Amino acid sequence: MTATDLDAAAPAVDEAGLLAGFEATIARSDRIEPRDWMPDHYRKTLIRQVAQHAHSEIIGMQPEGAWITRAPSLRRKAILLAKVQDEAGHGLYLYSACETLGVSRQELTEMLIEVKQKYSSIFNYPTLSYADVGTIGWLVDGAAICNQVPLCRTSYGPYGRAMIRVCKEESFHQRQGYELLSTMMRGTDEQRAMVQESVDRFWWPALMMFGPPDDESPNTEQSMAWGIKRNTNDDLRQRFVDMSVPQAEALGVTFPDPELRWNAERGHHDFGQPDWDEFMQVVKGNGPCNTQRIAHRRKAHEDGGWVREAATAFADKQAAARRQEASA
Ligand SMILES: [Fe+2]
Ligand SMILES: [Fe+2]
Repeated sequence: MTATDLDAAAPAVDEAGLLAGFEATIARSDRIEPRDWMPDHYRKTLIRQVAQHAHSEIIGMQPEGAWITRAPSLRRKAILLAKVQDEAGHGLYLYSACETLGVSRQELTEMLIEVKQKYSSIFNYPTLSYADVGTIGWLVDGAAICNQVPLCRTSYGPYGRAMIRVCKEESFHQRQGYELLSTMMRGTDEQRAMVQESVDRFWWPALMMFGPPDDESPNTEQSMAWGIKRNTNDDLRQRFVDMSVPQAEALGVTFPDPELRWNAERGHHDFGQPDWDEFMQVVKGNGPCNTQRIAHRRKAHEDGGWVREAATAFADKQAAARRQEASA
């Protein structure tokens, strides 16, 4: 058989037709499912985004997890434990969604601990007081909600469905943070000062969570055309600021931004820009806690090696027993 014969024997792949079908699905705002044909670049973009999201949930357990043993009461400890455990669950849904794109959990974990994939810059900042647990719930989970609610309608089915459940839990996280801070604000002067100090530290990093400004965000346009992203970084950042200002007023705290004011003409708050150089440094691995976060994750993965080996050995044993039963 010649190469030409082989070509003739293979079923013709109608790339143009497949692409047209994919684009029609996106145009109808229908979901793309794992077995559907999709452009390679769409698959790669999604793997990058969903993996980054899954890694953020898992690394995000660390800053707050550090306070579980130091919670000021049994009630606070129970709330924090449940919250951190939810984040582990979010990581698992998202890793599963990512696996449907043809990449394994093992590969994803390796890419995280070998620093080949990123996670949210916010988790590279330290938690210095218990008020940070409240501030993270209020502002960091609040920013995550702004980012994630539109993702419930993202074009890739498994990602969108994971987001629906994640968002319900994130809303609990935000409320528990706000409730903790409002309790502290009704406490002593020291407690109020602790809340304000924490908000001052987390405000700008929370604004950075939406990513760089639109004109410096290389992936936004394509991601929006594919229905992966539904809003731009700057739109979401504005939405977050508008949502947070009245909450801060109700709480009795201020944000460390002298440019923050209501603009009646725009119907939105004007606000200053975060330090984007600092953001780039944190993204590049030079934030206050990058090394510590990855080292901790790597150690946890290595420490869990025996569990994975035992589970694999048990599964092999069961499969061998089933084979023997079938052949008997
Ligand atoms: Fe989460
Ligand atoms: Fe959360």
